[in-house]
This record gives sequence, C-alpha cells and structure tokens, in this order.
Amino acid sequence: MVTIAGNIEHRLTIQTVEIAPNTTAIRCLDWDRDRFDIEFGLQNGTTYNSYLIRGEQTVLIDTSHQKFRQLYLDTLKGLINLKSIDYIIVSHTEPDHSGLVEDVLRLAPRATVLASKVALQFLEGLVHEPFSKRIVKSGDRINIGKGHEIEFVSAPNLHWPDTIFSYDKKTEVIYTCDAFGMHFCDDRTFDENLEAIETDFRFYYDCLMGPNARSLLNAMKKMNELGNIKIIANGHGPLLYHHLEVLKDCYHNWSQKQAKSETTVGLFYVFGYGFSDHLAHAIGDGLQKAGVGVEVLDLNTADIQEIQELAGRATGLIVGMSPTSASTAQAAISSLLAVAKNKQVVGLFECYGGDDEPIDTLRRKFIDLGIKEAFTAIRIKETPTANTYKLCEDAGHDLGQLLIRERNIKQIKSLDVNMEKALGRLSNGLYIVTAKKGETNGAMIASWVVQASLQPLGFTIAIAKDRGIDSLLQLGDRFVLNVLEESNYQDLKKHFLKRLLPGTDRFTGVRTQIAKNGSPILTDALAYIECEVVKTMECSDHWILYCVVEDGKVSNPDGLTAVRHRKVGNYY
Ligand code: FEO
Repeated sequence: MVTIAGNIEHRLTIQTVEIAPNTTAIRCLDWDRDRFDIEFGLQNGTTYNSYLIRGEQTVLIDTSHQKFRQLYLDTLKGLINLKSIDYIIVSHTEPDHSGLVEDVLRLAPRATVLASKVALQFLEGLVHEPFSKRIVKSGDRINIGKGHEIEFVSAPNLHWPDTIFSYDKKTEVIYTCDAFGMHFCDDRTFDENLEAIETDFRFYYDCLMGPNARSLLNAMKKMNELGNIKIIANGHGPLLYHHLEVLKDCYHNWSQKQAKSETTVGLFYVFGYGFSDHLAHAIGDGLQKAGVGVEVLDLNTADIQEIQELAGRATGLIVGMSPTSASTAQAAISSLLAVAKNKQVVGLFECYGGDDEPIDTLRRKFIDLGIKEAFTAIRIKETPTANTYKLCEDAGHDLGQLLIRERNIKQIKSLDVNMEKALGRLSNGLYIVTAKKGETNGAMIASWVVQASLQPLGFTIAIAKDRGIDSLLQLGDRFVLNVLEESNYQDLKKHFLKRLLPGTDRFTGVRTQIAKNGSPILTDALAYIECEVVKTMECSDHWILYCVVEDGKVSNPDGLTAVRHRKVGNYY
C-alpha cells in the first residue's frame, strides 16, 4: 500500500510504501529542487529515500534532508514508536540523508548508530549529544530476527569516503544510498518506466559516480558476492527493480570504460569543508567532459598508500586546499609530493584562504619539482556562484584537453585514409550555438546540424562529449542556433574558436540581442533559430540532440549559409 502525506503547496511530499516483507520505504519527494551540489542542475527534482526494517528488532536506514524535518518525523511516528528503534544505519554523512539523525536520536534514545569508522567520526561533529555507536565494515552482520540478517559492505567514495551498503539476506534488498540513484522525483516507487528515467540515471552517474569508477567496480564486485539482489533501494529517485539488471550493467560498463581511460587525473582534497566538494565536482566534471578519467581521494581519510598509488599513476593532479587541510592533511600532502613527477601537470584550488596561504607554499613545491601548472590557481574567498562553478569546470576541461591532445593525434593518424576522405565529403553548414541558463552562458561552433522533422519543425545537432557547453544543453534546455553567413562569418568564427581563460565572458566583443528564451542571439549571424532540446541520444563520443524549433528569423533574405568543406572525416 502506498500512502502520501505532505504539503502539496510547497511540493514537499512523503510516500511510504511496503517494498518487501517487514520493509517500508519512506520516500521524501522534493518536487521542485532544481540544484544539487549547486553546480548540478536538476530537471526533475529529487527524492531522499529512507527505509525501515521491522524484524524482532527495528532498523532505520538513513533519514532525510532537514527541509523534511516535521513531515519526516510525523511520518515516522505514524509508522512506529520511535523508542522501539534499535539501530540507525547511516550509509554516509551527507546532510541529505543524515540531516535528521540527531532529531531521530533524540526521540529514539536506545538506538545504536551503525556506520563506517569515518562516518562515525563525522557524525560526532554533527550530533551534539553522546550516542550509542558501532563501527561496521565489509562482512560485518547484524541479525534483527524474523530472518532479517543484514550484512554490510564498505563502499568508500560512493560518493563520500565514509559510505557503506547494507544487504538484507531475507528480502534480497540492498541499500546503496547515493550509488544507483538518480535525481528524479515521481510518485512511482520503482523504475518501471525506463525511458522516463534513463537520462537522469546517466546524468547522475556522470556527475557523481564516474569520478569514482574504480571504487564503484570494487563495490559492485563485493555486491555480487552477497547473493541474489532483488531490489536496489537507493537514496535518490525510483528504486531499481523492473530494470535492475539493465541498469546495473550500465553502471558496470560505464565504470569499466571510465577506469580504463588511458589518461587519469587524481583529484585530492578534504571532503566536506565549505564548498570544496562542489568546486571539486565542477573541476572533475570539466575533466570528464574532455574525456579524461578522474579519481577522487579525501586527503583526510585515504590511506597514504592509496594517495601515493593514485598520485604516482595519474597523468595530472588536482589538489584542493582549505584552512583545515593545511593542518590535518599535512602528512597526506607530503606523501603526495613525494611521488609527484615532473611529467605531470597540476592544478590547485583553495577555499577561503588569505593572501599568503598554504596554496602558495604548495604551488612553489610543485614548481620546484618541475611540475607545470595547468591553470592559474583558483582561489575562492566568497560564496561560489554558478559562474564560479563554470570557471572550475572550464579549468578542468582545459587541463583535460591538454592531457588528451597527444592521444587524439595518434587516433586521427590511425584511421583508414580512403574511408576518412569519403566521410569528409559529407557537407555541413556552419553555426554557433548560444545558450544561457541562470547566470551562466556559453557558446560553441557547430557544424553537424540537420533538419530532422517537419511537424513539429525540428533538427538534430551532434555535440562532442568533450564540449564544455553541454551542461547548458540538457533535456528540456532552450538555446539559440545562429546560422552563419557565407560572406560574413570569419570574425565570428575566429572569436568563438579563441581559447579564453576560465571564467571569461564568451560574448565580450560581439554584438548580441536577447532571444525570447533568454539566450544570446548573434546580431551578425544570417539567421537564428530558438529551440528546445526534446530528445537526446548517445552516439559514442557525441550526443545527438533532437530540438524542436520555437522561433526564428533571417536577417538577410538574400544571404547564403556558410558551408564547411572538409578533406577528411575523422576530425572537425
Ligand atoms: Fe545523496 Fe551523498 O548524498
């Protein structure tokens, strides 16, 4: 039975549903949330999923975000007497799942918190009263009666260093929190509508899980040893049941591809300090868009061996500093410097430093080792904005492109010469895509544009996955396609091909007007078309976007579209 409670006006609702014997999902539906981790734009809200298992003893797995405090606690009180909770399993300590642990503990005084060692350390800082606790790790089990034996799996870095999964042998439900999640808010408890969720499932993987592909593969190996898995009870979005195997395979394949990347950047910082997570995610996102693998480690919790293994193997290093890391992570940073090599490149970022802060000392040490800086150190002294995150993403993207340039040249040379010449005879126009979302804007030159439908009027455009603009071209986003004119395109082309320093406004120096959808129109283009992305299709190294036209105008009725003639088809 499904029960819905909540405040529809504020679009925060709670769904409780029996998902297996003695097992209730408490799904907090946040219909209108449009940002996650700040830089992570959402199209379909999100959910925070918590679970209750009632054997002879009672277990609560995770709680919810603080915005649900009253609704969540009222719902929980309607389901059980809170004093009867024996265990609270904290999968990790990010506030969207552990934000109400302190409130629940106050009402459930006999409960013991089960979590990883690192999570309990974090939790001691979050909960202001003493509480009963027990460290759990892979292979540990608790038997709560009525056949429910729960086994734990350490799953660090998914996507926090302190994550554990929990598996109930009786119901064959595994509780994975962030892993296998998606930001998708819907009344449907499960994943029956694959088409509706697949884009969000992939986007979430790319943003949160991709940078930890190796950790994910390790965790999946341990998962597979637990026994049959009937349901993946995640922390965000619909639970995986109907398409569990397909979606699990997706995670495996994407992670294998990511982990095999010839080029890897090690991203090291102290998790959970100020905005460091958000900045690191944005940099990691830029790196991934450039086709570079990213692996992330927390300087405070990772083993020295882990740090040295990754720092020694990576082609590039990103190190994030904060006032806390200067003191607590000193040994980790020294161990990293001990294995850094002069063939590597490094990028540094800092949260809330002063004028002569640890980042300067660290920067000098890298330079002394002969290691080149990939971008000017990013120093964040104020609350980051969308533009700050764009700057970080651009910096990551630039570093990624620098690292893969050589690899791409080798690939270009390896293709069959006749085939590539034949492909080069396909004709293409010349266009500039311009887009604005919130306070962030972007532009890119495009040429793989083809009309695709008459009713409604629509076209497709192919966007390389390594283009930094793709966060503005998600499903449901609106943009402008500017058609360049044969006799008047060189200046615009030159302007939009120019490499800019991260954070520079792409539109400075060109004439623009504002489209109805808010994106810039290039005044000197031959025509513009306003459109919405209504479908996406993944094609190897490109995304194909199918866009429906909403408006458009030609500025010169006699003008001809600029055409690109290429000799070969294996690069632009
Ligand atoms: Fe959904 Fe890592 O919090």
